[in-house]
Amino acid sequence: MTKIGIVGQGYVGLPLAVAFASEGFNVTGFDIDVSRVSQLNSGISPIEDIESQDLNELIIQGNYLASSRPTDISDCNVVIIAVPTPLNRLREPDLSFVIAASEMIGEVLTQDSLIINESTSFPGTLRDVIAPTVTKKSLPGVEHTFAVSPERVDPGNLIWKISNTPRLIAGLTQDATLMTRKLYGQICENIIEVSRPEVAEAAKLFENTFRQVNIALVNEFATIMNALEIPTNEVLDAANTKPYGFMKFSPGLGVGGHCIPVDPSYLAFVASKAGVQPRFIELANEVNLHMPAAIVGIVKAENGGSLKGKSILICGVSYKPNIADTRETPARVLITELEAEGATVAWHDPVVESWNGQNSVSLDQTKYDATIITLHHGIFDYQAILNSSDYVFDCLGRIAGTHTL
Ligand SMILES: NC(=O)c1ccc[n+]([C@@H]2O[C@H](COP(=O)([O-])OP(=O)(O)OC[C@H]3O[C@@H](n4cnc5c(N)ncnc54)[C@H](O)[C@@H]3O)[C@@H](O)[C@H]2O)c1
Repeated sequence: MTKIGIVGQGYVGLPLAVAFASEGFNVTGFDIDVSRVSQLNSGISPIEDIESQDLNELIIQGNYLASSRPTDISDCNVVIIAVPTPLNRLREPDLSFVIAASEMIGEVLTQDSLIINESTSFPGTLRDVIAPTVTKKSLPGVEHTFAVSPERVDPGNLIWKISNTPRLIAGLTQDATLMTRKLYGQICENIIEVSRPEVAEAAKLFENTFRQVNIALVNEFATIMNALEIPTNEVLDAANTKPYGFMKFSPGLGVGGHCIPVDPSYLAFVASKAGVQPRFIELANEVNLHMPAAIVGIVKAENGGSLKGKSILICGVSYKPNIADTRETPARVLITELEAEGATVAWHDPVVESWNGQNSVSLDQTKYDATIITLHHGIFDYQAILNSSDYVFDCLGRIAGTHTL
């Protein structure tokens, strides 16, 4: 019987563990975060896409167990890596989590296994980093096979799930590819085999770079429309009536999360190493990172040219609607920019509740000098938000009667 160990039980690893466990596989969800492991084993899901009730049932059936003990995955035939791949202080790839996970996997596995990487990284990570690291630590006589299957999950997406999102796969050997195809065929409807792992790794980076660059383009376009006093969203809707050759992106406060602000820098890193200057990526980063300052500039201009001493309410501090993830959230830069202008900032986010050592303020009778809506959580009370100030700026321009780009 196939026993699967999934290393990392976050936004990627947990839904994957639940998908395999629901198909009857025996899954161990390994994570170094002890409090997360005990929360999971109590049947409480820490992420929005997994219902606690579903997790509980899998635990009761004996198909899922979370663990912080490396030896609990030592007899797994398949081990999947789903750990963070952030940027370091120089905004370069930080593979320390992947390397730590690979060393641990090599040390504990007592039999030949299939090791699959789902963490996003640059082309060559499986071949040049993961496989040699695992192999170096492996017990004598144990020989693993390796494959990659970059995760494409979009937390909070109600249409595209693990089961119906096409999945790229490639092994370092033909055997690894075949085994990976068979395995993911149990939980995915559409498996796409590519010729080698580097193709899958690069495709994942390009998918998110495509989004980053197009978001930057529409953000820049929105600031141009604002300066020309032409309604951006109406222009975009008009352009979107073209049935071919156009794909609509929406402007906003910037980009956040573990993917769009991060993955393109993985591509930029290998580009620079190969002697190619990644100009689009650098420019897109610059434009997106500038959006909070651009929006503060507009809010300031529309409020008498100064925000000094003004009270400002931010509605939404996570990076995407209906998700509590605040990693790389552009709301952080927005707050810094507002405070640099001398404003006093409070934030309201009933999805996040607590962040940055502060709690979400409730929408009572308090009146602010200005309110900025950064995104649209389904549970927002829009009437209360509109009542919170006489000046409400909606970064997405969805609420009638608000100011926008
Ligand atoms: N979040 C997304 O929407 C998304 C989508 C596609 C791909 N990805 C990629 O998937 C990977 C994981 O992202 P995520 O969002 O699930 O991260 P996450 O932070 O939600 O989860 C990662 C988990 O790994 C654990 N961990 C860290 N080091 C570990 C180790 N050595 N051993 C075991 N567990 C360890 C952490 O405690 C955490 O619980 C990243 O490479 C990311 O770029 C993320």
